[in-house]
Amino acid sequence: MSIRYSSESVISGAQFVAVLNASTLGERRPVEDLARMQTMIDNADLIVTAWDGAKLVGVARTITDWSYAAYLADLAVDQSYQKQGIGRQLIAVTREKLGAQCSLVLLAAPAAADYYAKVGFDWIENGWQIKRTN
Ligand SMILES: CC(C)(COP(=O)(O)OP(=O)(O)OC[C@H]1O[C@@H](n2cnc3c(N)ncnc32)[C@H](O)[C@@H]1OP(=O)(O)O)[C@@H](O)C(=O)NCCC(=O)NCCS
Repeated sequence: MSIRYSSESVISGAQFVAVLNASTLGERRPVEDLARMQTMIDNADLIVTAWDGAKLVGVARTITDWSYAAYLADLAVDQSYQKQGIGRQLIAVTREKLGAQCSLVLLAAPAAADYYAKVGFDWIENGWQIKRTN
């Protein structure tokens, strides 16, 4: 299977919702609020997508200043395409686009708690967060 990766493709909020639902990450995102999902797409700085022909099968959505820090806000691969290296490649393209000056941090979903060590991330114990209230 030949998967194409893109950091230029523009996707809609509806496409974003579809791939998150296909991955199961939709359970942990406000997918019922399409306007909010569209805003998440519109205001992201880097969206790397994976395509099987015309079908969107994976996405990595990052917020960054392109110079020091980056936050990997969503990483999702369609369940029928998982464990084929697509997530790893989405991260690789994201890192390549960010360059060496940016660190990349994330909040792991429970289902992916053991994943990130396999794809180059170090676990950090000095992370803190203020949770969203809505
Ligand atoms: C987590 C996710 C993005 C991984 O994508 P993927 O394309 O299946 O991952 P890869 O094929 O690149 O996997 C790379 C390695 O991690 C392993 N792996 C994949 N998913 C894993 C998981 N959930 N937990 C632990 N290891 C995992 C693979 O077996 C592979 O191991 P190998 O190098 O020894 O062969 C995908 O499973 C997904 O979308 N999950 C649901 C949504 C989610 O939880 N996203 C993360 C939000 S923080």
